[in-house]
Amino acid sequence: MKAIAVKPGTPNSVHLRDIPLPNFQDIPDGKGVRIKVLKVGVDATDREINDALYGNPPPGDDYLVLGHECFGKVIDVGPNVRRVKPGDYVTATVRRPGGSIYDRIGTYDMTSEETYYERGINLLHGYLTEEFVDHEDYIVRVPEGLKHLHVLMEPMSCAAKAIQQAFECQRRMRVWSPQRAFVLGAGQIGLLSTLILKLRGLDVYTLARAPGPHLKSEIVAGFEANYVATQETSLTDLAAKVGKADLIVDATGSSQLAFEAMQALGHNGALVWTSITGGQRKIEVPSDKINIEWVLGNKLLLGSVNANREHFELGIRDLALGEVMYPGVTSRILTSPVEGLDNYEEMMRLLVEDKDALKVYVNVSEE
Ligand code: BGC
Ligand code: ZN
Repeated sequence: MKAIAVKPGTPNSVHLRDIPLPNFQDIPDGKGVRIKVLKVGVDATDREINDALYGNPPPGDDYLVLGHECFGKVIDVGPNVRRVKPGDYVTATVRRPGGSIYDRIGTYDMTSEETYYERGINLLHGYLTEEFVDHEDYIVRVPEGLKHLHVLMEPMSCAAKAIQQAFECQRRMRVWSPQRAFVLGAGQIGLLSTLILKLRGLDVYTLARAPGPHLKSEIVAGFEANYVATQETSLTDLAAKVGKADLIVDATGSSQLAFEAMQALGHNGALVWTSITGGQRKIEVPSDKINIEWVLGNKLLLGSVNANREHFELGIRDLALGEVMYPGVTSRILTSPVEGLDNYEEMMRLLVEDKDALKVYVNVSEE
């Protein structure tokens, strides 16, 4: 069957190749699920993998099948599968467990091992192919009423985890009740974080470079949040105007902005970093100022990566609530479809060059 793959370590090696059809009976305990891939989203991580900045092939292979944001339909299940049945719409988690205690209790997103296994990213093949099989533990059902949001399940799971982790950590404050959030970046994670925080009742300011009106600013407004163009109002100006934030989510993809965010956080607040920055950038930071403010304000910096099944389920619930609160807004993120695996060059072109593409995804098969 066809697959879109790269040669990790070789820049711009994206190509179409033929790979063997997997067999769901190879999955142990009769718990295998066979899935027909309908759609797969791509993001900045795929771009970094194709730039040879990130990612590794499975042991023994010199290629890596790309794609970690999948949406598909179950076509067959092993005898002991109970979570899903043929015909169900599903997505799949990205990470697979290693050997740490966290991996063994289903929180593989929190592995304490250096090596991590992620489908389509690191050491495991991804979903940009016609079919895949996996253990039912990693397959998450998508309600039929959300199928129009298809490839957003995985990015939503990462946003859901990031925010859930911040709330978990802030239980240290005993009475934390955040009023104001800044979301840095209006890509998919920024916009989905905006939605989640609005559903939690916060005043949300979502920052990106260019002044609106444009799609990003309209989506932010659609979620009843405030769009702030940093070309007009810097983060520092915003904090001076409305006050520092109780919670900041950085999803800019820029380590420089992630550090700048440290100066816009209020006392007892939490800053969550979500960007994967595979480069080698270095910047100068006012370290004494940040250090003292951070200590005197009991501030928290939290990194958040990946998501386990619980976060997928949480994210799916918030997407459903989002459809009721803000009908038709979230699907506007899904800007840029590509028809078929054969069009992998167009997929990469949109991902790299099209600044207006909020979400590039491949329509792999019809149902
Ligand atoms: C994926 C996550 C993954 C992270 C680090 C992101 O693009 O969405 O699932 O953990 O990259 O590899
Ligand atoms: Zn991703």
